[in-house]
Amino acid sequence: MSNYHIKNLEEYFKVYRKSVHKPEEFWEEIAEEHFVWRQRWDNVMSFDFEKPEIKWFENAKLNITENCIDRHLRTRGDKTAILFEPNDPNEEAQHITYKRLAERVNQMANVLKDNGVQKGDRVCIYLPMIPELAFAVLACARIGAIHSVVFAGFSSSALATRINDSDCKIVLTSDGSYRGSKSIDLKGIVDEALKTCPSVKSVLVAKRINSDIHMEEGRDKWLQPLLDAASKDCEPEIMDAEDPLFILYTSGSTGKPKGMVHTTAGYMVYTAYTFKNVFQYRESDIYWCTADIGWITGHSYIIYGPLANGATTVMFEGVPSYPDFGRFWEIVEKHKVTQFYTAPTAIRALAKEDLAYVEKYDLSSLKVLGSVGEPINEEAWHWYDDNVGKKKSPIVDTWWQTETGGILISPIPYVTPTIPTFATLPLPGIQPALMDENGEEIKGNLVEGRLCIKFPWPSIARTIWGNHERYRDTYFSAYKGKYFTGDGARRDAVGYYRITGRVDDVIIVSGHNLGTAPIEDAINEHNAVAESAIVGFPHDIKGNALYGFITLKETGESRNHDNLRKEINQLITEQIGPIAKLDKIQFTVGLPKTRSGKIMRRILRKIACNEAESLGDISTLLNPEVVQQILEERIA
Ligand code: WTA
Repeated sequence: MSNYHIKNLEEYFKVYRKSVHKPEEFWEEIAEEHFVWRQRWDNVMSFDFEKPEIKWFENAKLNITENCIDRHLRTRGDKTAILFEPNDPNEEAQHITYKRLAERVNQMANVLKDNGVQKGDRVCIYLPMIPELAFAVLACARIGAIHSVVFAGFSSSALATRINDSDCKIVLTSDGSYRGSKSIDLKGIVDEALKTCPSVKSVLVAKRINSDIHMEEGRDKWLQPLLDAASKDCEPEIMDAEDPLFILYTSGSTGKPKGMVHTTAGYMVYTAYTFKNVFQYRESDIYWCTADIGWITGHSYIIYGPLANGATTVMFEGVPSYPDFGRFWEIVEKHKVTQFYTAPTAIRALAKEDLAYVEKYDLSSLKVLGSVGEPINEEAWHWYDDNVGKKKSPIVDTWWQTETGGILISPIPYVTPTIPTFATLPLPGIQPALMDENGEEIKGNLVEGRLCIKFPWPSIARTIWGNHERYRDTYFSAYKGKYFTGDGARRDAVGYYRITGRVDDVIIVSGHNLGTAPIEDAINEHNAVAESAIVGFPHDIKGNALYGFITLKETGESRNHDNLRKEINQLITEQIGPIAKLDKIQFTVGLPKTRSGKIMRRILRKIACNEAESLGDISTLLNPEVVQQILEERIA
């Protein structure tokens, strides 16, 4: 029996049981039947959540690009691998076949080698959603270099932090990027960042917007002429199963971003397997995930998962609102998209607009709708189901994280009955546990707790780049012998999971994870600021927005508050990026603190969310009197 493709609920339960009782056998069969290996593994897996150390397919040899590209050439050479849809609807879409993809990736790999990149080197990719981004990612994998894609909406200082953390020796970027009617000077951001990045020796610049930019003599080169001149052949580097494939940064509860390290074989097997099942992918489908490749969703479900299955994956450069709010639906109609995967924040934004934008287009090609990034609220779920799926396309509410590499809890469409706002059941291989405050597992149904995973799956991140201790402390110390997700969840009467949201200091704004600490650090750099605390509050479109409580130094108190607000948001934009700007800034006389001096964010959160009636006992605070004052001056 093949375990690879689940087709009904009975089969799901059977496969799931097997994946729990005989995980090694389960994953071994999948790995054997569906991938090409240069050398077989000695051992399917071993793990120790104390150290922690996790290994899958030990000593196997492979190259992931042979699995994502080469092996399809014989049967799918002329099939579209990447369907590039540009920002401007009047610019023609590009159908990049598997054959062409192989050539471009090999050329890019040769260019990287010519510029001194070797196996194990870190390559920073700071590119917009253009084909060169996909080529660059795969070219790194081809030669065994470790890619670190940084979302091209991050600021120069966020970029520099990421480049320096992993000592990248080269940066791939473009002159600029298009976002709707705007263009962004990416190269300028890179130039600024590189003032503080001594490890970077060269910069390869793709031409996209034809802007007049500065090219640093001896460091910067135009990419496309080098690509065109490079050989179309490049032997894949033979990698060990546990060699790092990439680093991807995610926010944490301290200032420094965490460089999550994903390795090769397990990541490949798990993303391919989950892509096939969660999207019920079939050979002639046209699959579209609207995420940016700068996030894990783009890595796993635009590039690696789809290509490992020989799929056609749409890559969209633009935004949902340009030239108008019908853009997504126009693309669905134009390319006859069968699976559409997006984020609740996009759904909410589009649901606010005239329904005519949706109704204008023929969406009958759609078979599966996906959601990812944050809990999807009931209203958005129904709007998506009614108007996009016309009640005939199941919605897969997929729960996972940068750290998990692939989707862990999700319905399987046409298999798992869906309920709005529930991510439903764990995928095969995933063993969730809900934990109580005392660190005990909560058994049974109709319960709520902190979500952990009890057993490793192939694509779990193996470490944090350069800081294994932080990896252990963040994920494996809260609950002994378990991976802690940072999320809370509820389990209903039939065992379905509903994710309730973060239980740590990470706030998800428009699907972007933002740690409060780095934002507070940025604010505190303002010379008028004494102290600050950031909390989230519900927002119609963004899901959450940021509310900052800020106390000023004596010297700052006479300053104009509106100007200060602008300057503070400007600082945040420079240090992190515009996505982290505060919607509300309240200047306060003090921040509520415990007697040991810790800021009581719980109280501030209640105030920001207008839930002051449930503040609880504040008499034990160091300074209970400030609470009343903050309440009175709350920004509605
Ligand atoms: C949240 C994105 C509810 C969650 C793939 C998680 C979700 C964090 C869902 C990871 C979902 C993601 N329902 N919450 N379907 N999907 N989340 O690392 O809090 O960008 O821990 O990975 O997003 O965000 P990340």
